[in-house]
Amino acid sequence: MSRTIVLTNHKGGVGKSTTATNLAYGLVRLLTNLEAPNPRVLLIDTDSQSHATLVTSGRSDYGRDDSLYTVITAERKDAASILTSCVVPSHWDENLHVLPASPLLEIAERELIGVPGAPYRLAEPLSRIASHYAVVVIDTRPSFSLLTEMGLLAATDALVPVEPRYLETVGLQSVINKIIDIREGWRHPELRVSGIVVTKMDRRMKGHIELVESLQAHPVLGKLLCSIIPANEAVAYAHQTHQSIFAYAPRSSASYAYAQLARLFVKQIAIPERA
Ligand SMILES: Nc1ncnc2c1ncn2[C@@H]1O[C@H](COP(=O)(O)OP(=O)(O)O)[C@@H](O)[C@H]1O
Ligand SMILES: [Mg+2]
Repeated sequence: MSRTIVLTNHKGGVGKSTTATNLAYGLVRLLTNLEAPNPRVLLIDTDSQSHATLVTSGRSDYGRDDSLYTVITAERKDAASILTSCVVPSHWDENLHVLPASPLLEIAERELIGVPGAPYRLAEPLSRIASHYAVVVIDTRPSFSLLTEMGLLAATDALVPVEPRYLETVGLQSVINKIIDIREGWRHPELRVSGIVVTKMDRRMKGHIELVESLQAHPVLGKLLCSIIPANEAVAYAHQTHQSIFAYAPRSSASYAYAQLARLFVKQIAIPERA
């Protein structure tokens, strides 16, 4: 079964889109280097702000007929084929594909309130096409909204990016609880919290170091801490030029850290290399 990673945290600006896009591309690069039989990765953007869509595809004006909006508002029997037809190539790599977000997703949340089965409108069509991809990566919006629930219900692995600041880490437990709620309350046992990613870590800041140390010492959260991405201004410049960190600054500290996160994930899921 292919794996679907959702990046989730109801706080904005913590590095969800940065991690979703660079992890997705990092996985394509790694799987290609390992000569994996299928190195394709699908990035699904569920945030109406379309940041992940914009940096990977160069556009953010997808709409009624060519975006995730089209998939989740389609007749259910057509949803999987519509999903396939809405996927676009990224301009980062031929094996990185994107299901674009749309500003219309904002309206979709309201249109679908109370519609039976609405939270499964991504999981269900995705389950029918996910085997075309080695990994699917889902970026979410900064809230526990219907679209975030759709992302969590479609996923097998949740990664939680968090900034090394006091109030951010205080909110961490509520993010973990939400994931557990989806797994247990919504009977989606395949979903697991596969890691916490500390983003924008500045080792010159005493407060950052203390927070990471207290996370590491925490009996539950400490075991989940899987990656520390350094604060690196190359990340912002890469966004501005619509490039991945690997292409924009291959020798930067953030590039190494995202490559390591991709390696960690591939090791966890033991994707077969070419025999
Ligand atoms: N490692 C990093 N170093 C420096 N800036 C970063 C880093 N990661 C993200 N950023 C910046 O932080 C901002 C928020 O990141 P983003 O990924 O859009 O967060 P989210 O999707 O959680 O709202 C962006 O301006 C981005 O360029
Ligand atoms: Mg974002």
